[in-house]
Amino acid sequence: MLEEEREEGKNLVFAVNGERFEVSTVDPSTTLLHFLRSQTPFKSVRLEPPLFTAIIRRRSLVKGEARFPSLVGGCGACVVLLSKYDPVLDRVEDFTVSSCLTLLCSVNGCSITTTEGLGSSKVGFHPIHQRFAGFHASQCGFCTPGMCVSLFSALVNAEKTHRPEPPQGFSKLTISEAEKAIAGNLCRCTGYRPIADACKSFAADVDMEDLGFNSFWRKGESKEVKVSRLPLYKHHSEICTFPEFLKKENKSAMALDLERYCWHSPVSVQELQSLLEHYDSNKKTSIKLVVGNTGMGYYKEVEDYDTYVDIRHIPELSMIRKDQTGIEIGATVTISKAIEALNEANGGDFNSEGVMVFKKIADHMEKIATGFIRNSASIGGNLVMAWKNHFPSDISTILLAVGAMVHVMTGHKYEKLMLEEFLERPLLDSTSVLLSIKIPCWYPGRNLTSETKTVLLFETYRAAPRPLGSALPHLNAAFLAEVSPCNTSDGIKINNCQLAFGAYGTKHAIRARKVEEFLIGKVLSFSVLYEATKLVGAIVVPEDVTSSPAYRSSLAVGYLFEFFGSLTGERAQFLSDCLNGYNNSSLFKDLRIKQNRDQFDQTKLPTLISSAKQVVELSREYYPVGEPITKAGAAIQASGEAVFVDDITSPANCLYGAFIYSTKPLARIKGLEFESKSLPRGVTGLLSYKDIPECGENIGSKTLFGTEPLFADELTRVPVADTQKNADRAANVAVVNYDMGNLELPILSVEEAIERSSLFEVPSFLYPHPIGDITKGMDEADHKILSAEIKLGSQYYFYMETQTALAVPDEDNCLVVYSSIQCPEYAHATIARCLGIPEHNVRVITRRVGGGFGGKAIKAMPVATACALAAHKLCRPVRIYVNRKTDMIMAGGRHPMKITYSVGFKSNGKVTALQLDILIDAGLSPDVSPIMPGTILEALKKYDWGALHFDIKVCKTNLPSRSAMRAPGEVQGSFIAEAVIEHVASTLSMEVDTVRNINLHTYNSLNMFYENSSGESMEYTLPSIWDKLAMSSSFNQRIVTVNEFNRINIWRKRGISRVPVVNEVSLRQTPGKVSILSDGSVVVEVGGIELGQGLWTKVKQMVAFALSSIQCVGSGDLLEKIRVVQSDTLSLIQGGLTAGSTTSESSCEAVRLCCNTLVERLTPLNERLLEQMGSINWETLILQAHQQAVNLSACSLYVPDITSMSYLNYGAAVEVNLLTGQTTILRSDIVYDCGRSLNPAVDLGQIEGAFVQGIGFFMLEEYPTNSDGLVISNGTWTYKIPTMDTIPKQFNVEILNSGHHREPSGEPPLLLAVSVHCATRAAIKEARKQLTSWSGLVWSDSTFHLKVPATMPVVKELCGLDSVERYLQWRMGK
Ligand SMILES: Cc1cc2nc3c(=O)[nH]c(=O)nc-3n(C[C@H](O)[C@H](O)[C@H](O)COP(=O)(O)OP(=O)(O)OC[C@H]3O[C@@H](n4cnc5c(N)ncnc54)[C@H](O)[C@@H]3O)c2cc1C
Ligand code: FES
Repeated sequence: MLEEEREEGKNLVFAVNGERFEVSTVDPSTTLLHFLRSQTPFKSVRLEPPLFTAIIRRRSLVKGEARFPSLVGGCGACVVLLSKYDPVLDRVEDFTVSSCLTLLCSVNGCSITTTEGLGSSKVGFHPIHQRFAGFHASQCGFCTPGMCVSLFSALVNAEKTHRPEPPQGFSKLTISEAEKAIAGNLCRCTGYRPIADACKSFAADVDMEDLGFNSFWRKGESKEVKVSRLPLYKHHSEICTFPEFLKKENKSAMALDLERYCWHSPVSVQELQSLLEHYDSNKKTSIKLVVGNTGMGYYKEVEDYDTYVDIRHIPELSMIRKDQTGIEIGATVTISKAIEALNEANGGDFNSEGVMVFKKIADHMEKIATGFIRNSASIGGNLVMAWKNHFPSDISTILLAVGAMVHVMTGHKYEKLMLEEFLERPLLDSTSVLLSIKIPCWYPGRNLTSETKTVLLFETYRAAPRPLGSALPHLNAAFLAEVSPCNTSDGIKINNCQLAFGAYGTKHAIRARKVEEFLIGKVLSFSVLYEATKLVGAIVVPEDVTSSPAYRSSLAVGYLFEFFGSLTGERAQFLSDCLNGYNNSSLFKDLRIKQNRDQFDQTKLPTLISSAKQVVELSREYYPVGEPITKAGAAIQASGEAVFVDDITSPANCLYGAFIYSTKPLARIKGLEFESKSLPRGVTGLLSYKDIPECGENIGSKTLFGTEPLFADELTRVPVADTQKNADRAANVAVVNYDMGNLELPILSVEEAIERSSLFEVPSFLYPHPIGDITKGMDEADHKILSAEIKLGSQYYFYMETQTALAVPDEDNCLVVYSSIQCPEYAHATIARCLGIPEHNVRVITRRVGGGFGGKAIKAMPVATACALAAHKLCRPVRIYVNRKTDMIMAGGRHPMKITYSVGFKSNGKVTALQLDILIDAGLSPDVSPIMPGTILEALKKYDWGALHFDIKVCKTNLPSRSAMRAPGEVQGSFIAEAVIEHVASTLSMEVDTVRNINLHTYNSLNMFYENSSGESMEYTLPSIWDKLAMSSSFNQRIVTVNEFNRINIWRKRGISRVPVVNEVSLRQTPGKVSILSDGSVVVEVGGIELGQGLWTKVKQMVAFALSSIQCVGSGDLLEKIRVVQSDTLSLIQGGLTAGSTTSESSCEAVRLCCNTLVERLTPLNERLLEQMGSINWETLILQAHQQAVNLSACSLYVPDITSMSYLNYGAAVEVNLLTGQTTILRSDIVYDCGRSLNPAVDLGQIEGAFVQGIGFFMLEEYPTNSDGLVISNGTWTYKIPTMDTIPKQFNVEILNSGHHREPSGEPPLLLAVSVHCATRAAIKEARKQLTSWSGLVWSDSTFHLKVPATMPVVKELCGLDSVERYLQWRMGK
């Protein structure tokens, strides 16, 4: 059999964007992503960075501790459309997959479409690209190709439906499908709203009024005009996803040549059996059964297998069979196909209860992973992972509750087992193959012959940080019950129930048998339910290492209560009457259905954006400055043509390196070894400290406050390898020995740092001044809060593109380094110092950065320097692309801090004095931490504190050094201010909003707190914006509605809050260069880096405006002639740092100065020519200028002298689910005084994006460390940034152009997200009030502290982990 295959085997053939690819041999573990990026020109599929070999920077990597966190399928940046052809049905199937998990051999005979296949700048952009650009849905652009493909797939599939013809320009897609199409794709820049709008613009049912701010139409234009302005989508002539040539080849497709590919595709169970037998007797070859290979996303196996067996082509494993007894699903059927089949179950085949059960299973499955994972992930793979690897599966839990059976083959033995038996089986025979799963059809009384009035109830539950966006649950559950009216008393009797719980930190899902036994035969009452919850609490107990164990147990109790709760109490009597025929039985049925649906609606329906509004004041005074023009490069970002550092093709002979991080603080390295005595495969050398040239320095980065070494000590080594994969392997097998003898105890907390006087100095010019007389302020107070404490944690940047650089040696000891960095100038100087060469030997080039948020300022330098050192030493190009886990460990992120405050205040809430003691954890090097005291205070001063004194210490610990992250210090300062205000309000039992109001600055107090930057009194717009927000968001009416909601709802509470933000703006010196070429086109260089914030766009607008003062034909229309080019540190020096939200504004000033010079030089010639010719156009003027030797290139260095202020406001309303701790942001309203916006579209994007990143900080993103201070979050599985389903359901933003200043939009809006936290606190307060009332006590304590981030476990804990039990006790007592 195997011999035959070898003879007949074929080559691996597939198509990418219509082009044929034939691969004659390949390692079977090669992924589609790897192939596309390394062997094709289609680089739009973005790489979640792989591992490389290591530069050890501080301590050692302990062997076996490193996992491969790279390719996890969790971000969507590598999504492609996979199309398969069925020659029998002559049908093409199109669906998205993660190319990082798809094995190349599995796409034999398939066609792949990437965003390049949709269109390009050369052949014309696809309307998807154009609409992404026009709706301002692409900022850094790293995520955009994946988003485009996800949308394209939704469009292609919508066209296959039999829905009515859509109106011209639209597709058959629905709005809800459009939103869901991108629900699993991550974006760190935009805040998702514009992306959703771009997608919805294709939907046939879209209301044009609901589409957000864009560059296609202006407000007030008619629907027809709007439609006509959208780039036309012709749904009939969509791109062919499967080329004809491949269809022909497919008709004769055969298995791949086994010898060359080590890839089997058995087509029958017998063939599979003999294969397994064959390999079982040949133990030398490792084999792996594979279906979608998505399991790799979780387990990241380090070793590859020799041979893969693709079991998708075996009919028994891929069938779906339905009969009256249920639905049998082959093990290789994908989750998406299973959902389809379950949803198709109808009354013709099954009874209505059975259909209800199938549909609920399908609904639950829709929340597993993301669409692009579900499309290739198999049901069987999931269950086998649950069985073998204890994966926290959803499928095993829901199928356990419905009594599913599995069909298993071991050797020649076939078994049918209950799923429960299967899960409990020891792994005796790991060669067992799961063939199929049978989900029985349920009907009332299935287990009971005598009951006639039985009703079947079924529900599934899942508590996850993100309802839709690829997040494993804290716990899942599914309950099935048969109930009937009790014959002997009032109430509902449970005849049968099956209760399954899983994913809570247990080996596999379980049936809660004891609870079932207890409940069966009981009439439901509060006391029965109470006993049942106690039993559940005792059974659902997570294993030792599980996080938030008490929370998970309380979820189980909450869900059980939610399921049975509505069948008890007054409602039980009514339902029982219905069932007994005293009431209309169909009414009962409705009620039951409603009961189920209500629960479903309230707690589980995916919550995507319901509406959004953007109000933007436009001004044409300085045209095109102030215009909402499309971001420069947005379309090429969408089409995948934009080039990021890792997209630059590796030069010949390129080597690869990486970092190994330390796992123990302060350890000394003794040496690095590999298991075998020789170097691992592919490793060409080990660099060390000694490789730094004699005249060089051990320096990896520098800031104003000092330098950091590249090598932690002399014994660290840098393995360098020929390929990425070999480098990864070497890093993984490296064993670093280190010396722990006579080590001091590491400093792992700010308290320890204070004890040991381990501090960084803050230069006096950076340390803020106290305000007022604190003793007097305290004396004036009627009340005091003394020494209250708050702790704030860190936040990771989560830029989609991690740190990366490529260094290429050049002639005469020179180097070109391509770096994804926010401050190329600093890297330039650092590299020169490290290598001991003059700075003119180094050139650092940065074109675009895939998200920075501050993390690519200082932390990008060691990466660039390490590449440069290796390239210099080895005389070969060297590249580093840091993997996500290492990046997360090295990045440091936002500064954690401990705050102790004492505050004095009057009885009316007016604060008279605030004393703060702040300990900032800066980590092991200063980085830019000394700026923190100033930035914290700057934001904290937004209220009039009367007197404000503080003692702020920047602590040196042995943790990774922290760096600036978007709004560094300001976000914490703003939070501290709100926390103090909340504390004052709760102490006085006053409304928080009243206390905020009374402490807002008057112009006089503003002057006192902000001295030179407070501006004129008319520029102080905060009070008017404060009122405006109250009006535009109907704040006062909504408070009444919220109160009413809280009065009538027990298990959901709402909160509302509004906060002000005052932001001090300081510009930095920035260079610019504008050159006019002979054809009249203009090339611009600026010091600032395009990070997605729209810097290039604003600069283009400013250049177009500034040059328009030359009075000639065409000078007013130069926008399209201007190109901003990459930053090159030799071409434009003194580029500085792109940070602090002001670089766009400063760069605009710099280029305006250049343009003024050019205008001055051109004006005399222009006037002369006008006189001679009467009229002159731009091109002629420039040509003449060239000929007459006018200098057409101008440089400038803009040195600012102003500091100004901006004011913003924000209101948020949230809803908290008291059973799960889940917070839903119902609505948010932002009013932002932008001063004078250079481009309101870009600013809007910055505001929304920053705000959503703030939601991440305040509500979602945990960046935990272990007891050694090592970050333990290692990627998308554990670090949860916001997704489409966690942003505000209604999101309104208003940008004011008060005209006073030009204000930045990149950072301040992040501070506004504190309001979501405040609103959550308000909702929790209501929950606690209610909880106290159940105990018969009078509520008095409202001074609880809500941690940051306010994750589900945190919120639930404050709402009462035992709230259900306490409620039931209260009801029992009534
Ligand atoms: C980003 C992401 C998010 C996810 N989120 C969730 C979630 O929220 N909830 C959830 O329940 N799951 C989740 N999953 C898990 C997902 O459902 C599984 O990875 C998937 O179902 C496995 O199927 P596969 O076909 O890809 O298996 P593969 O990766 O091909 O195989 C997985 C393992 O099972 C073995 N195997 C496969 N089929 C058989 C068979 N028939 N008989 C014997 N052995 C077999 C393979 O040898 C391998 O060891 C997520 C996965 C990813 C990547
Ligand atoms: S635009 Fe989405 S990650 Fe930057």
